[in-house]
Amino acid sequence: MVSRVIPVDPFDLVIFGGTGDLARRKILPGLFRRFLAGQMLPESQIIGAARSDFDDEGYRDTVREAIGEFGGADAARTVELEDFLKRVRYVAIDAKGEDGWKALAALVDQKRINAFYFSVAPSLFGDLAERLHLHAIANKDSRIVVEKPFGRDLKSAKELNAVLARHFDETQIYRIDHYLGKETVQNLMAVRFGNILFEPLWNSQYVDHIEITVAETVGVGGRGEYYNKSGAMRDMVQNHLMQLLCLIAMEPPSRFDPDAVRDEKLKVIRALEPVNLHHIVRGQYDKTPSEPSFREDAGDPKTRTESFVALKCHISNWRWAGTPFYLRTGKKLRTRTSEIAVVFKDAPHLIFGQEAGRHRNILSIRLQPNEGMTLGVTIKEPGPGGMRLIDVPLDMAFADALGDEIEDVPDAYERLIMDVIRGNQTLFMRGDEVEAAWAWTDPIIQGWEDRHDVPKPYDVGSSGPEDAGMMMHRDGRRWRELRE
Ligand code: BG6
Repeated sequence: MVSRVIPVDPFDLVIFGGTGDLARRKILPGLFRRFLAGQMLPESQIIGAARSDFDDEGYRDTVREAIGEFGGADAARTVELEDFLKRVRYVAIDAKGEDGWKALAALVDQKRINAFYFSVAPSLFGDLAERLHLHAIANKDSRIVVEKPFGRDLKSAKELNAVLARHFDETQIYRIDHYLGKETVQNLMAVRFGNILFEPLWNSQYVDHIEITVAETVGVGGRGEYYNKSGAMRDMVQNHLMQLLCLIAMEPPSRFDPDAVRDEKLKVIRALEPVNLHHIVRGQYDKTPSEPSFREDAGDPKTRTESFVALKCHISNWRWAGTPFYLRTGKKLRTRTSEIAVVFKDAPHLIFGQEAGRHRNILSIRLQPNEGMTLGVTIKEPGPGGMRLIDVPLDMAFADALGDEIEDVPDAYERLIMDVIRGNQTLFMRGDEVEAAWAWTDPIIQGWEDRHDVPKPYDVGSSGPEDAGMMMHRDGRRWRELRE
């Protein structure tokens, strides 16, 4: 029941940073999967570009190894893998100098779609963009792909946007937020705007509150240095959680086209009220006898960076005035769970009497793991004994509905790269969206810095600091339990 694979036109994809972590973990194994699925045609070409001094064969060994390590079961398809590797080339390049650019120009076929993945430090974006033009490698139809973090505040994001805009039109720039490539995230739009059922209830008259949780069990591991400079607010809230908030709260766009969708998302971000610092809790995981603390992982015994954030925010518009949105994300928590829960208000009048109690409908949208949706409904408890009510889930796990074929659903990166080739920007962030998200985030971070705020410690494997629970408690609510 998985939708038919439609091959994309043959393309040349240049991966700057082609030997880096992202290329090895996500981009190259993802492209191999699309090749296996028949979506990437054999005429296409992947060109790795980095500083290391490889020839084509040397780079192919690196790609073979990366797919062996991160490609899962696909890695065993050695015949197809060798065939895929024939499409892979390499150019040793100096982003800030002249070396390699002529060789790259000779490889890229100007007659077909070409895309340039900037999987490098943002400080190199300007150099790459400039040289791609100088050497006539990029043309007016070329696409460039850039990764998060897109800046670390409004000022730096504006500078990056300006650097890219010097050489590329906004329609050529694909800013990745991989959460937008997740199957269920897109399903959120399908469910909201493909059904009549939910839309009439999707407002503050019927929705008590909305919870967005992205909980991880992993710590910061080998990324301590990067993470210590960013923290959960910059690493997760400004982008992934903000995008989820936009999709859940936005008005129906008039069409499913890139600007119509992104205009509506932008309106949500701009309507966000500044967050009161009393409505936000930061945390840092503590050490256990067997595992290091965040401070140890970050290599900074005095760090005040947060590995957990929980906050309450409000959207000032007609639809949502009065409905709080609670956002929470953190590392080394009890479970890996990403979920959006729309908690509806109580029925206005209890016809079954006080003893039947209050019952709430909750629509829970699970992003990972076990993608699916559950609608909690109230029914009569079966059996004799009068009218007693219980809440049961109407559960739709996508794996049940789609069977084994769910395995063939492309992962976020695969889908997004194919969208770049197709020239579809719907699932990518526009420059003004990123800036608006920073404009909302900056004062929160500044507020912490001004107050020398120290994050609250929390136990590894818990649900975060107790203060996060207290914040909800003060509003007469409770976080949903972190469950697998
Ligand atoms: C990345 C963050 O963008 O998203 C990481 O930098 C985080 O810190 C990751 O672990 C989570 O992605 P996913 O797809 O595993 O939920």
